[in-house]
Amino acid sequence: MKKRFILSFALLLALTLTACNNNDTDTKNNSQQEEGSSGAKSGEYAEIGSGANLVKFPEDLEKGIVFATYDRGDIHENIYVNSRKAIEAVQNGDELPSGTVITLEGFRDGEIEHYLVMEKRTGWGSQYSPEERNGEWEYQHFTPNREVAKDNIGRCFSCHANQERDDYMNSMDQMKEFDLREISQSKKSSSDTPLVAIPTEHWKVSEISDHVNDSKEVNKEASNVMDDEEKVKKIQDVLLKMYLQQYKS
Ligand code: HEC
Repeated sequence: MKKRFILSFALLLALTLTACNNNDTDTKNNSQQEEGSSGAKSGEYAEIGSGANLVKFPEDLEKGIVFATYDRGDIHENIYVNSRKAIEAVQNGDELPSGTVITLEGFRDGEIEHYLVMEKRTGWGSQYSPEERNGEWEYQHFTPNREVAKDNIGRCFSCHANQERDDYMNSMDQMKEFDLREISQSKKSSSDTPLVAIPTEHWKVSEISDHVNDSKEVNKEASNVMDDEEKVKKIQDVLLKMYLQQYKS
């Protein structure tokens, strides 16, 4: 039992440390306005992807909800959405609301490779031709430093256009099936609740009382015997301290 507790504690520590490592400094991208090489095409419509500069790096990425992950060989991807409302909308059969930001955080061999962002806002995309636009979505590609990457954003539109019936999203099924109760106990994202991962059902509270009884025999004093209510309070206290500790660090 002791071993299990130590294991649980090590797990908690490991998770807390990973949480700390995520506090990368945000690099703001004020100056990187990338116009398409030639601006608008010769017709009446703007070049597809020329509005990519509207999409800024999502500052609060880590506060979002990871509703899907992909693993393919050495590639790992976390898909974030910036609001719970977006998930609730699709689960109620509604469209994704204006202001929805979906971010693909892509890793190769455990190293961050890129951030691909799609953002939907009322009125966006109206400058594009009806055949090329992806509803009201715009796309942007960011480097591991969270700066705008040089890329042809038009290709994002042409490939995601295949998903028109799912509001241009590939991971719509995962979003519809995501269990929001997974995050309801915590204000932060689901991966930040290490306490939930500790298997407390194997903790035997009775061991404490055995021990306390021993010491009572030695001391012939009943003063340090805890009743059940006290024990529960103590345990809750320790759990609370462990829980608060992770937010401090
Ligand atoms: C060749 C097709 C293709 C191209 C080009 C492409 N994507 Fe995707 N995208 C996908 C697929 C497929 C997924 C689902 C995740 C996966 O399979 O890895 C995806 C997932 C995403 C997601 C997560 C939401 C979703 O649709 O599931 C975002 C955000 C995203 N892509 C943004 C971009 C951006 C930005 C670009 C351009 C720089 C881009 N994509 C280019 C095919 C493409």
